[in-house]
Amino acid sequence: MRKRVFSGIQPTGSLMIGNYLGAMQNYVKLQDDYDCVYCIVDLHAITIQQDPKELKARSREVTGLLLAAGIDPKRSILFIQSHISAHSELAWILNCFIPMGWMQRMTQFKEKSAKHREQVSVGLFDYPALMAADILLYNTDVVPVGEDQKQHVELARDAAQRFNSIYGETFVLPEPLIPDVGARIMGLDDPTKKMSKSETASGHAIDLLDPPDAIRAKIMRATTDSQREIRFDSSRPGIFNLLTIYHLFSRRSQKDIEAQFEGKGYSDFKEALAEVVIEGLRPLQERYRELTADPTHIDSILADSAARARPTAEKVLAEARRKVGLG
Ligand code: TYM
Repeated sequence: MRKRVFSGIQPTGSLMIGNYLGAMQNYVKLQDDYDCVYCIVDLHAITIQQDPKELKARSREVTGLLLAAGIDPKRSILFIQSHISAHSELAWILNCFIPMGWMQRMTQFKEKSAKHREQVSVGLFDYPALMAADILLYNTDVVPVGEDQKQHVELARDAAQRFNSIYGETFVLPEPLIPDVGARIMGLDDPTKKMSKSETASGHAIDLLDPPDAIRAKIMRATTDSQREIRFDSSRPGIFNLLTIYHLFSRRSQKDIEAQFEGKGYSDFKEALAEVVIEGLRPLQERYRELTADPTHIDSILADSAARARPTAEKVLAEARRKVGLG
């Protein structure tokens, strides 16, 4: 039996190259060796208030982008979280086993609650419990994520362990899988901050559907430093981040890249970077346009996938309910 991979992505804002390099490329590769389940997590999205129409449209856009990036709906399952009610129900059960102290340690909550001070919902605080439910419902072994989600996956594992130690083996213990390079792509406007799809500043992120001109303009404006050498030096966050993006899109070694730009200036490098990003995204953008030409196509894939995902989720939920004494 192949091991199970599960991961999720929020349909908030436009997917950007941080999502692509930190997570989506891994989702695609893992399909060769694992049984993969990928989820568009709209219940997580509403932890921060969303425009209802936009949320629904974004869920389809994210599905289209995942398909365009290479998720094969015949081999993998790709569904919308709220289509399977077991996610909310298991989240409630896990809520009753996760100590407040564990949640209070979550760095992402601290960051998000500082940013959305006026509307910090209980759901935002509880976000990791829902994420644990997502993962545990599918007997997940491996969770491919970027660096920012590692702490949440560890919490899911701790919650599973705690539940199992009280009620006996119920949940499989998941492990995070973080790429060696690209796990934390930084903002182009401020390379000390993680690139984020919810950040709206125009020079911050390259969106997967950005046209070539926009990509070029954003890269040419990206923050670097006052030095000259083009080297992978993590103490120079701006140029280091751009070089990392170049490395991941070109698939060339760091040594080769440094040799190529020896003696060249930042603007030559940025022009070359813009070209590899534009060419790297071109096939994805073309496939996306083809896939979305028929709007019913995506919905039929989502319905079929949810039907395939549901039996596993319901079986695991039934077991947890029985163990706790519900019903
Ligand atoms: P989300 O939607 O913020 O991001 C989706 C994936 O993209 C990764 N990522 C990045 N990787 C590298 N550099 C960046 N700047 C960058 N920004 C985002 C994220 O680490 C993530 O892997 N809570 C999750 C969604 C989720 C989930 C799950 C994930 C819900 N349930 C269960 C795994 C398993 C989130 O908000 O991801």
